Amino acid sequence: MRVIVFAATKGGTGKSTLAYNLGMYAAREHQVLFADLDPQGSLTELWERRAEMFNPQIVKHVNGVAGAVRRLEDSGYARDYLIIDTPGSHVPIIRDAVASADVVLVPVQASALDVLGQEAAFDIIRSEGKWDQTLLLWNRIDARSTDFNGRIEKVLTGLGLPMGRISQRVSYAKAGAEAKTGAEIDKAAAGEIAKLWDAIQGVLKR
Ligand SMILES: Nc1ncnc2c1ncn2[C@@H]1O[C@H](COP(=O)(O)OP(=O)(O)OP(=O)(O)O)[C@@H](O)[C@H]1O
Ligand SMILES: [Mg+2]
Repeated sequence: MRVIVFAATKGGTGKSTLAYNLGMYAAREHQVLFADLDPQGSLTELWERRAEMFNPQIVKHVNGVAGAVRRLEDSGYARDYLIIDTPGSHVPIIRDAVASADVVLVPVQASALDVLGQEAAFDIIRSEGKWDQTLLLWNRIDARSTDFNGRIEKVLTGLGLPMGRISQRVSYAKAGAEAKTGAEIDKAAAGEIAKLWDAIQGVLKR
C-alpha cells in the first residue's frame, strides 16, 4: 500500500479539498482508503456526503497512521493507496504522517505569508528524510494575475521541489455542496487532478 500525505503548517491551503478530489479520482482504478487525522474532520464531512461509499473508504478518529493501518488490517480489506489528510497546525500529527509517507504533497497559496507559513512543514519533511518524495502544490492559481504569478513562481521554484499546479476554480468549492468532486463537474478540474495523479506516480517510481 502506498501512502500519500497532505501536509502543511499553514492552514486553509487546500489539503482536505485536494485529498478528497485526488482520492475520488484514484478510486476509479484503485482501492483507496482515506485517513482523516484532522480533528476538524473536513475530509470526513466531504466523504459522508456521498451515501454508502465503499471505495474510497475512510478511517477517522485515529490520531496517527499506525492507528489507521491497524484499523485497515482489522477490517480485512486490502487497499492500494492510503491518502492522509492532516490538520494545519498540530505538528506531532503532521510529523507522524510525514514519517510514513511515500509521497508528501504540500499545497501552498500565492502569497509571501503562505510561503513563510510552510517553513515548519519543510523542516518536518527534511528532518523525516522525505524531501525527495515531496511535491509542492501551488493551489488556487488565479489565471488573471499574470504579473504576480510570475513573481510567485520564482519564489516557489526557488524552494527546489518539483511543483504541481491547481487553479482557483469555483467548481472545487461548489462540488462539495453537491456531494461531488470538482473533477466530476468540471472538465478543466478533471484535467489538472489527472495531471497531479501522474506527477505522484512519477515520485513513486523514483
Ligand atoms: N483550487 C481551489 N479553488 C477554489 N477553492 C478552493 C481551492 N482549493 C481549496 N479551495 C477552498 O479553500 C478553502 C480551504 O480549503 P481546505 O479546507 O481544503 O483547506 P485545508 O488546508 O484543508 O484547511 P485546514 O488547514 O483548515 O484543514 C475551502 O473553502 C475550499 O473549498
Ligand atoms: Mg483540512
